[in-house]
Amino acid sequence: MKKKIGMLWATALALVAGMGTANAQVKVPENITALMNKYTCSACHRVDARLVGPAYTDVAKKKYTNDKIVELIYKPVPEHWPGYPPMAPMTQVPKEDALTLAKYINSLAPKDAAKK
Ligand code: HEC
Repeated sequence: MKKKIGMLWATALALVAGMGTANAQVKVPENITALMNKYTCSACHRVDARLVGPAYTDVAKKKYTNDKIVELIYKPVPEHWPGYPPMAPMTQVPKEDALTLAKYINSLAPKDAAKK
């Protein structure tokens, strides 16, 4: 898939960002990166690559509502992700922040999949 474009993005972002984010391939808003780091999400998730947990772009494909994602952050359902270890419930994340993360994850849903 669009390898060259991805490379260009990576290069451009590495130059623009220049702050060593773990997600240099994808433009992640600063406040989101901050939350992911604060609540250690980034230890297990990358935006567009499988790590311990699924890529957020893959989570977005499940088309959960934002509220459903918040619920899943608090009470993961490992059966949704066969082949992955279960995620620990992240109940320490305040609702507001969980919702911010949920909205961001959903914003990654592929736009071109909207074809009818
Ligand atoms: C210790 C590793 C780990 C951490 C930390 C972690 N996750 Fe996960 N996450 C996983 C794994 C593994 C899965 C897939 C298995 C599962 O859902 O239980 C997952 C699944 C998910 C899903 C998909 C849920 C579903 O049912 O489809 C979302 C959304 C998610 N994580 C968000 C987050 C957010 C946001 C944070 C930070 C607040 C976070 N995760 C922190 C490992 C982690």
